[in-house]
Amino acid sequence: MGSGSIFFALVYLLVYPFIMLYKKIPMGPSHLMFPIPASLVVTGQSNDLNVAAVAWIGMMTYSPPIVTISLKEGRHSLDLIRKYKEFTVNLPSAEHYKETDYCGLVSGSDENKLETIGFSTEDSLNIKTPIIKECPYNMECKVVKEVTIDCWQLVFGEIVETHIDESVCKNDGSIDVNKLNPLVYLAQIKEYWTIGNKLGDVKTSGEHFTKKP
Ligand SMILES: Cc1cc2nc3c(=O)[nH]c(=O)nc-3n(C[C@H](O)[C@H](O)[C@H](O)COP(=O)(O)O)c2cc1C
Repeated sequence: MGSGSIFFALVYLLVYPFIMLYKKIPMGPSHLMFPIPASLVVTGQSNDLNVAAVAWIGMMTYSPPIVTISLKEGRHSLDLIRKYKEFTVNLPSAEHYKETDYCGLVSGSDENKLETIGFSTEDSLNIKTPIIKECPYNMECKVVKEVTIDCWQLVFGEIVETHIDESVCKNDGSIDVNKLNPLVYLAQIKEYWTIGNKLGDVKTSGEHFTKKP
């Protein structure tokens, strides 16, 4: 074997572990997506109230702002949404991960989950379904559309009001993310996490790649 071949063999041996490191592993069709918020969706009115953990949630438009939540047929929350045509989305802090998890374990058709986890409600401003006091950010939503795929319903809610807890705001009124401490849900990995640290600002961080003339 010539010295050239030995050289290439050595290079290959050195690089091989890194090639292996970057190999993609096919996982098949999966609903894995992270991070996503674990929200608490309140449905119903007055004495007919329910709360459920909902992580398949997304924002659709700016104006009017529309949020979507995906609910499986048979959820008590879905029955109440159809009955009253409204709901509230409440974002819990990370400290309330156990309460949130409980709301995803038990159905409101069996018990009053709000009572069990010791959360209280507060009147909404524009709808009759209340918001959760203990959750620092809340959205009041009116149902505008439902889309069905198999046994899943995508519910579109127009956000008619939002609320932020004073205690998570800075002096200038902006949101202090450290105080808000939003709960992060890792679907399929099945873990709750906190949000981590700030890396940079939106729409200026990308300027790093702007071509100079
Ligand atoms: C973190 C978490 C997120 C969840 N996200 C959803 C969801 O997006 N859609 C859904 O239909 N069920 C979801 N679930 C399951 C429901 O919360 C659960 O079935 C609950 O018992 C439904 O309550 P209900 O019958 O009172 O509506 C989730 C559960 C957990 C723990």
